[in-house]
Amino acid sequence: MTRILRPAGRLAVAALLAGTALATATAAIAAGSAATVAVQADHPGAVIAPAIYGQFAEHLGTQIYGGIWVGPDSPIPNIRGYRKDVVEALKNLHVPVVRWPGGCFADEYHWRDGIGPKDRRPVIVNTNWGGVEENNAFGTHEFMDFSELIGAGTYVNGNLGSGSVREMADWVAYMTADNHGTLVQERRANGRDKPWTLNWFAVGNEVWGCGGNMRADYYADLLRQTRVFLKPGAGQPTKFIAVGPSDDDTAWTETIMARAGKEIDALSMHYYDVASFNMVPKGTWAKKGSATEFGEAEWFASIFGAYQIGTYISHHSAIMDKYDPEKRVALVVDEWGTWHDPTPGSNPGFLQQQNTLRDAVVAAISLNIFHAHADRVRMANIAQMVNVLQAMILTDGPRMVLTPTYHVFDMYKGFQGATSLPVTVTGPDYSQGGRAVAAVSASAGRGTDGVIRLALTNVDPNKAAPVQVTLAGLKAGKVTGRILTAPAMNSDNTFDHPQTVVPAAFSDAKLSGDTVSVTLPAKSVVVLELK
Ligand code: AHR
Repeated sequence: MTRILRPAGRLAVAALLAGTALATATAAIAAGSAATVAVQADHPGAVIAPAIYGQFAEHLGTQIYGGIWVGPDSPIPNIRGYRKDVVEALKNLHVPVVRWPGGCFADEYHWRDGIGPKDRRPVIVNTNWGGVEENNAFGTHEFMDFSELIGAGTYVNGNLGSGSVREMADWVAYMTADNHGTLVQERRANGRDKPWTLNWFAVGNEVWGCGGNMRADYYADLLRQTRVFLKPGAGQPTKFIAVGPSDDDTAWTETIMARAGKEIDALSMHYYDVASFNMVPKGTWAKKGSATEFGEAEWFASIFGAYQIGTYISHHSAIMDKYDPEKRVALVVDEWGTWHDPTPGSNPGFLQQQNTLRDAVVAAISLNIFHAHADRVRMANIAQMVNVLQAMILTDGPRMVLTPTYHVFDMYKGFQGATSLPVTVTGPDYSQGGRAVAAVSASAGRGTDGVIRLALTNVDPNKAAPVQVTLAGLKAGKVTGRILTAPAMNSDNTFDHPQTVVPAAFSDAKLSGDTVSVTLPAKSVVVLELK
């Protein structure tokens, strides 16, 4: 049997997640087959930045138009044009930050097209996503207003590919300055007196691809040049993000950190979990695999892909540690999630896909990995928020449904701002087709409310997983929990049946002294709270 997680299979992952020696995991595995999860509350780690629960909202398909913005005259209930049901669902998630306007769209977006009276805004063509017309009704003011409405921080992605340094510099000043300059006068004339808060600004997107097909050295120079002219207004918290690697492209990380590491606050990383890429033999981008019609081989491939991001983060972090041992520069995973074939019958350029229990399990594993790397990974933005790829929310005209992934984000929201606690997972594998991953994925944190939260996922779709949790440095008197599971691997929520995959109370965890005994049902995500 091949263990797929290099270099030493899942032992390496267990040790990696825990930040402890490989030997610990090895010894425990030899001792027995039930999973053990050792939580070290007496060795607190880094704070889990709330922004790890960030979202990505590109002008793509029906995300902005229809999914978020319907306009104030729409029969769909709305607040100043933003659909009410979506706003309420997002508020419930405590969305910490939204990335906008792309994605590939960002490097063709000229911000001046999206300000001023709506009837005078130009119509452009969204050449990346379906060639549809874009009337620019949703621009800078609408994005900022929307972010304020849902209580989220702001992440604006600048246009380096087809824009200019001046265009980016003006945009930053337009959003953030408070003076009598012409840009600020213009903003005021357009209805906004005070500057908005701009939390993050990126210099381009995927410049190695749709953002300009650049080499790393060339980009590093442009980045250094551009950065000089980006001057947020006084008191702004704006952090500047450089385009980072895709997947495991460590050469890109090395070059940007070496040439421009001192000029930036963060390096972005993109990773998509494409089932066909994780199959043996490997499939193609053209046929990624159905979002809903799949068997256990595809389930395993997606789970494998979810674990893979931990390996890649470790590789990039190791390089960043070389140039930035104090960890000043954040690694931001500003695009991540599953990418399946588009929903049959939909516009393939709209990247619309259904979301099942499989996507929920992928989300849980990924979030556990981000928690384990909280010292370096300080923002992550799932792709994407509404109606695109691994979305939280799907809409169809006036109807809306919350996806299984939404429910994972809801169950995990207590981890926002928590102090991460080291976790060592040992125990059985989940095997398929001669390959294996850890059957149980876990993470833990002490919340800002003092509650210890323990996230446990059983990735095996066939077998329950008995788990013994040991708690070092913690006295708890009570354990409660919530579970997300469903009858089938591909169970989903549809507009007609929106409650198939929803969280339920979980009372099967037993606390005795410093041990919690729990049996995780097959293919389930559980979050326990210890008080
Ligand atoms: O999320 C969809 C696309 O994937 C983004 O626009 C791009 O940055 C990435 O390739």
